[in-house]
Amino acid sequence: MRSLSIFGATGSIGESTIDLVARQGGREAFRIVALTGGSNVGRLAEQARTLRPEVAVIADEARLPDLREALAGSGVETAGGAVAVAEAAERPADWIMSGIVGAAGLVPGFRALSHGTTLALANKESLVTAGPLLMAEARRHGATILPVDSEHSALFQALGGEDIATVETVTITASGGAFRDWPLERLSRATVAEASTHPNWVMGQRITIDSASMFNKALEVIEVHEFFGIAPERIEVLVHPESLVHALVAFRDGGVIAHLGAPDMRHAIGYAMNWPERAHLPVARLNLAAAGRLTFAAPDPARYPALRLARGVMETGGLAGAAFNAAKEVALDAFIADAIRFTDMAGVVEGVLDRLSGLGGLEKPAESLDMVLDMDRTARRLAREAMRLPAAAERT
Ligand SMILES: NC(=O)c1ccc[n+]([C@@H]2O[C@H](COP(=O)([O-])OP(=O)(O)OC[C@H]3O[C@@H](n4cnc5c(N)ncnc54)[C@H](OP(=O)(O)O)[C@@H]3O)[C@@H](O)[C@H]2O)c1
Repeated sequence: MRSLSIFGATGSIGESTIDLVARQGGREAFRIVALTGGSNVGRLAEQARTLRPEVAVIADEARLPDLREALAGSGVETAGGAVAVAEAAERPADWIMSGIVGAAGLVPGFRALSHGTTLALANKESLVTAGPLLMAEARRHGATILPVDSEHSALFQALGGEDIATVETVTITASGGAFRDWPLERLSRATVAEASTHPNWVMGQRITIDSASMFNKALEVIEVHEFFGIAPERIEVLVHPESLVHALVAFRDGGVIAHLGAPDMRHAIGYAMNWPERAHLPVARLNLAAAGRLTFAAPDPARYPALRLARGVMETGGLAGAAFNAAKEVALDAFIADAIRFTDMAGVVEGVLDRLSGLGGLEKPAESLDMVLDMDRTARRLAREAMRLPAAAERT
């Protein structure tokens, strides 16, 4: 019987993963080792009562008594706090979903690799903040990382069996997000509710807002670079409002392989869950006749400054990814809290990167997780200072 754990079980990726687990036999087919949530005790307890993991962990330690109460008599062990989440990742499991949002997913994902698991990586922030360390850790322990972001899963599939040296360019697509067609001057008045809608995908709030600003695509460009080892100048982004073509690989002989599919994360999750086999998955089938036309456009740099910042991050390398992601997370928190405008986020991130590059050390190779976490904390502090916000409790 295969064993598996789901980190971020209560989120959008976690729920889709649980849906697939249930469709593929649930507890009859899988031994569930760990389920984790951030603060949603009610949903985590429900999931745990159905799937009966060895342990259910809530990252917000203050909610642990509620979780204990909700799971009393169920036989499911309970734990709380960031350390307990990381410890749960050390419990051996054949397959682990890394579905926590943000830099909080880094340490659990890293620990999971130590027992040579197959890590289904939705948490792109791990690769952005500590790509070389994560890839080296996987090699050291004979672990496998499978990308779960739809564009990266698409590239993984399009590149299957190909020699990476023959690739001229790779292109990942972006819907353009909620404000793709808004006049530029209206963007500064965009509300959190408006930014939290997506034209095609149903996802967590943070990634949805990041899709509107294209910070999500910026993270994904860096993720392509770190995961596939493709040079930054060979990675392109195309706005594709229909979200049916997820990625394209152009080879040196002029051939292009594209990956298409309906916008449903259960394809990429199910692909990673069954790899190297292909299972029957409950996703809508592609109907190009119904779609009628597929449209593409180059992203407008004035609308999506995050893409330019990502280029700078890849050029700098080292700890720049950790700083970029951390500053972005704090700026996003501030936008969600109505403390800054939608259009201020890029400026906050750029200001932090500029300050750090003035201080030196941004380009230093990340030799340990501690170095990454230090940079993460520094960038968060600088971002809060830049917005004149009070210091906050650390998330990672
Ligand atoms: N959703 C998608 O379609 C999609 C597609 C591609 C990639 N991704 C990536 O997948 C990851 C998850 O995205 P999502 O959309 O599923 O996010 P989400 O719906 O917001 O769910 C995030 C999950 O992380 C948990 N969490 C939040 N803060 C935490 C912390 N400090 N420590 C531990 N757990 C914490 C949440 O718990 P609570 O809800 O209990 O607080 C929840 O289980 C992100 O990295 C995202 O970029 C998502």
